[in-house]
Amino acid sequence: MSAAVSKRPSLYATAVGKKYAMAVSGLILMGYVLLHMIGNLKVYFGAESLNAYAEWLREIGEPALPREWLLWGMRFVLLAAVFIHIHAAYALTMMNRRARPVKYESKRDFVAADFASRTMRWTGIIVVLFVIWHLLDLTWGTTNPDFVKGDVYRNLIASFERAPVAIFYVLANMALGVHLYHGAWSLFQSMGWYGTWRRSFAIGFAAIVVMGNVSFPLAVMFGVIN
Ligand code: HEM
Repeated sequence: MSAAVSKRPSLYATAVGKKYAMAVSGLILMGYVLLHMIGNLKVYFGAESLNAYAEWLREIGEPALPREWLLWGMRFVLLAAVFIHIHAAYALTMMNRRARPVKYESKRDFVAADFASRTMRWTGIIVVLFVIWHLLDLTWGTTNPDFVKGDVYRNLIASFERAPVAIFYVLANMALGVHLYHGAWSLFQSMGWYGTWRRSFAIGFAAIVVMGNVSFPLAVMFGVIN
């Protein structure tokens, strides 16, 4: 056999492949944040409604599957999407740094692209730090002194009754909004979907998620729910 058989690089080894990976993992994460926000709206229907919803999440798939199996399946997909998203973002940044064969047309284009990528990096880091805090706070209860396992409503109220925590949630969700807006917009670019609706979709999607999410800490702070 000839030793000169050339090996085709995997799609992920190319910049286009990494952009696809970012787009597909980004879509999964967008789906999650939207559904998570819609699910959390049950807080406005009272403790029973939110807690029943949290319990249902653990039961879905039963009796075909044992309790929490489907939930763990979803957690696994979500975690994989997070890792792929971060890995592809990092690898793309490194690729861009190593080689920039096509020069930007003008200094203005360069400044705009640089601003967007720096914004994505920082808002991405804020969102990751937020999620770590969020899990410690509302899933494991480590940072929530009044945590009661299984009483999601009570835990949520107890958490947002602390003003600094509520303000942190508002700010982190605004960073998420910026990330979602730019991410949704560039996702269409990566997938090759062009249309005048792209910007409107990106703005609309980010606005719905952010407005829903910031409403929860604000509603507790201003005594709308307690
Ligand atoms: C103010 C907005 C938010 C509220 C009120 C909220 C509320 C909650 C609550 C109550 C839980 C625990 C659910 C349970 O144990 O059944 C939870 C879990 C979680 N949240 Fe949020 N969340 C918010 C925003 C976000 C955002 C923006 C993200 C992601 C960027 C996120 C990601 C997660 C994750 C990954 C879990 C763990 C889910 C699991 O493994 O079961 N949350 N959230």
